[in-house]
Amino acid sequence: MRIGVLTGGGDCPGLNAVIRAVVRKGVSIYGHEFVGFRDGWKGPLAGDTMPLDIQAVRGILPRGGTILGSSRTNPIKIEGGVDRIKENLAATGVDALIAIGGEDTLGVAKQLSDRGVKVVGVPKTIDNDLSGTDYTFGFDTAVNIATEAIDRLHTTAESHHRALICEVMGRHAGWIALHAGMAGGANVILIPEKPFDIERVCEYVESRFRTRYSPILVVAEGAHPLEGQMTVQAGELDSFGHVRLGGIGEMLAKEIEKRTGKEARTTVLGHIQRGGTPTAFDRVLATRFGLQAIDAVHDGEFGTMVALRGTDIVRVGLDEATAELKTVPVSRYAEAEVFFG
Ligand code: F6P
Repeated sequence: MRIGVLTGGGDCPGLNAVIRAVVRKGVSIYGHEFVGFRDGWKGPLAGDTMPLDIQAVRGILPRGGTILGSSRTNPIKIEGGVDRIKENLAATGVDALIAIGGEDTLGVAKQLSDRGVKVVGVPKTIDNDLSGTDYTFGFDTAVNIATEAIDRLHTTAESHHRALICEVMGRHAGWIALHAGMAGGANVILIPEKPFDIERVCEYVESRFRTRYSPILVVAEGAHPLEGQMTVQAGELDSFGHVRLGGIGEMLAKEIEKRTGKEARTTVLGHIQRGGTPTAFDRVLATRFGLQAIDAVHDGEFGTMVALRGTDIVRVGLDEATAELKTVPVSRYAEAEVFFG
């Protein structure tokens, strides 16, 4: 078979590990051929390919980013987009596709699969918000980066008797904030799943100062206050209709200063959470996903996504994988709340 591989959406550490595993097993065990599509769905839309053989994937296991490039292109929104993809797959002799991506990329994969394209999905995102899998690769790396940042914020906050806020990514799911906040011993963690009460947040800040420790607040970029408490600005939309998030940390700092009279400053981790080398956990997960994805293609199990359940990698339908966002349950947030204030 000739198999196309693409990486779509926001990049994350571990993408190259998947590509390497797919190609290594696909070539050496099954004798398949590969072609890389550049920049997510833009590649098959434009017929933009690159060679993808064992030589091309040597040495990429620990490298962040993706050798294939990525984009947030939505071919479903482009007139005739699906037909163009089908034509280009036929023109490049591609029998099947492996699409490595999050909610959006896999949502497109699902729609293409419904229209007869042979596709297998691999779940990636630092946000860990895909419902079909216990974990996505990239998440562990992002959490470790954020945890290290929080550890560093603790020491400087203590020296200056300030409240320090760490804004993390995660879009509409609070997983990064929850895990990094718990691991880093944050005094308050604010997540999108639970609108926060600014008065309560200020009480936590003040009580922390009373114990002569400086408060560290971890806020997910998608977190928002209870209605009517603070004014928050809306950002622009991408081609999947997602709002660009960011800025809640700064708004929170201003509000805390105004209400408590204490100095509050914000650090926005941003894309640092997505860059650089993956953790060992993510390298292993990404490698196992890649091995199982090529098995699924080889077995002709299209319209599926590989997923982690416990410690096993299983195949789930792309419909199940993209049906809903996996958000933080109330009970998981309650575990973290024990340590607030
Ligand atoms: O989905 C991954 C993610 O990093 C989100 O956490 C964040 O909201 C978004 O992508 C940022 O996207 P961009 O890289 O396009 O700014």
